[in-house]
Amino acid sequence: MNEKALNETLSFLKNKGLDRAEVGIILGTGLGKLIDEISIEQTVDYADIPNFPEATVESHLGRLVFGELAGKRVVAMQGRFHYYEGYSAQQITFPVRILHQLGIRFLLVSNAAGAVNLNFKKGELMLIKDHINLLPENPLRGANIEKWGPRFPDISCPYNQQLQDKLIEIAANENINLHRGVYAAVPGPNLETPAEYKYLKIIGADAVGMSTVPEVIVANHVGLACCAISVLTDECDPENLAPVEIPDILAQAAKAEPQLIRLTKKLITSL
Ligand code: HPA
Repeated sequence: MNEKALNETLSFLKNKGLDRAEVGIILGTGLGKLIDEISIEQTVDYADIPNFPEATVESHLGRLVFGELAGKRVVAMQGRFHYYEGYSAQQITFPVRILHQLGIRFLLVSNAAGAVNLNFKKGELMLIKDHINLLPENPLRGANIEKWGPRFPDISCPYNQQLQDKLIEIAANENINLHRGVYAAVPGPNLETPAEYKYLKIIGADAVGMSTVPEVIVANHVGLACCAISVLTDECDPENLAPVEIPDILAQAAKAEPQLIRLTKKLITSL
């Protein structure tokens, strides 16, 4: 993605008056209900936005939602892009650059993930404290546009510590069981083999999924404070692996969604 494309997309959205967002939100699989809490001012379908990839996954709607949530101006991505859909890492993360240019100062990300740490159970939440990028592509590969961020960005604290601290505090006050752990991003679309779950555990992952890491890398590249929460939808026990049904993943995501929504709203209030 080049600067011309970025400017074209930005002008399109700014011409619709959508340039005063404070908080960006990326909603993961089965986690779209937060949208119902937003007093929506405007929505724009991805298909209508120049240079935006189009969402291809059924359980993901594809649109940007602008409005107010917990007293802040937010822009939410209802539907995100995944590597397994065939997009490049640069395409996947183009919307993050756009949201940043629209003025957001915080990026909140959610996803559905499998629990590799067997102390974590399905239906529970995990605050991502760090990640392992196992995707075969990096969104920053290629010519660096110095205006967008440094060639070799530091990523020693990929998830903003203050946001993490706030979420931990909110979870405690709200009686929400919020685990903390390392998220590994794999290309998908197949789930993992037992040997792969063993490997993920050995290398230090607590959860595994197919998203989030490219967006977080770009958020760090542009200097955007971000945080991410995984909804754990299945338990990845290599010794006792039950076949995963996608409807069950979606059902688990739906079960945990109200807690995630509460956390997100309180976090936004506190910003
Ligand atoms: N792997 C395993 N389980 C999952 C995943 C994944 O990528 N996403 C949600 N549950």
